[in-house]
Amino acid sequence: MPEKTVQQLYDLKGKTCLITGASGYLGKAMAHALAEAGGRVIVTSRDQNRAKKIAAQLPDPNHSNHIGGILDYMDFDKLPDQFQTITDQVDAIDVLINNGHEHCPNDWKDISGTQFTKVLSNATGYFLLSRLTYELAINTGSPASIIMLGSMYGLVASYPDAYKDLIPASSVAYHTLKGGILQMTRHLATYWAEDLVRVNSLSPGPFPSESANQEMVERLKSYSPMRRMGFPEELKGAVVFLASDASSYMTGQNLVVDGGWTAN
Ligand SMILES: NC(=O)c1ccc[n+]([C@@H]2O[C@H](COP(=O)([O-])OP(=O)(O)OC[C@H]3O[C@@H](n4cnc5c(N)ncnc54)[C@H](OP(=O)(O)O)[C@@H]3O)[C@@H](O)[C@H]2O)c1
Repeated sequence: MPEKTVQQLYDLKGKTCLITGASGYLGKAMAHALAEAGGRVIVTSRDQNRAKKIAAQLPDPNHSNHIGGILDYMDFDKLPDQFQTITDQVDAIDVLINNGHEHCPNDWKDISGTQFTKVLSNATGYFLLSRLTYELAINTGSPASIIMLGSMYGLVASYPDAYKDLIPASSVAYHTLKGGILQMTRHLATYWAEDLVRVNSLSPGPFPSESANQEMVERLKSYSPMRRMGFPEELKGAVVFLASDASSYMTGQNLVVDGGWTAN
């Protein structure tokens, strides 16, 4: 077999990529990245119309017809049927991006047990959707790449001074969740590698949206070696790398895109 060129390695033509949270700040950029790299994108949202609208706005260089579908990964009972409805429309799922996140703003001072458990349920949803994708890959006999959105806050502790007297600190439940997602990545990767299903994490550093508290953003900048926050487009290359054959010998790893934050 001739060696693939770098363009061929990164090309997502012919690959079907399902992404959750595609309506969000980072998910929108990642959905665009998958489409721009030539993939067929299944945009999912808890809102059917929102999913269809975003799918219709994506570039489609290969005329592969992106799909918008309803999917709530926190509704564990309905999830298998929702997944089936979506996958009935395609031959296989080559790429799954577990990117959605159901937020809870409360920090360690006042988060309730119910709220804490709900945040952790994001991991349950990531797992169930990954397993459905794995089972489909086995049934269709096609390899798959699963990407879990972690966070630098799954690697490092919070920064109390960045939040003090402004807003609640980064959530203890969020740190617990994202650390767990990195470990789930390693666990599933070792079980599924033989079946050609790769599992990796992508951990962004600070990418605050415009609605974030600007004083907090200024404080965060002072912690960053680059002295700035990330922009959503700065995740596009990483997500295409993990989704594509460019990362075909990589599984169980965590790719950190954080402006050097965790290098300290
Ligand atoms: N922004 C950052 O600085 C940063 C840093 C590190 C890691 N991350 C991680 O990156 C990912 C994206 O972050 P973001 O800032 O783009 O978040 P965001 O703007 O708040 O978007 C989150 C998305 O999750 C979807 N969602 C929520 N609950 C869901 C559920 N039960 N089922 C399916 N989808 C659900 C929502 O879509 P619908 O309402 O359309 O369903 C929403 O678009 C998250 O996993 C986050 O933890 C973000």
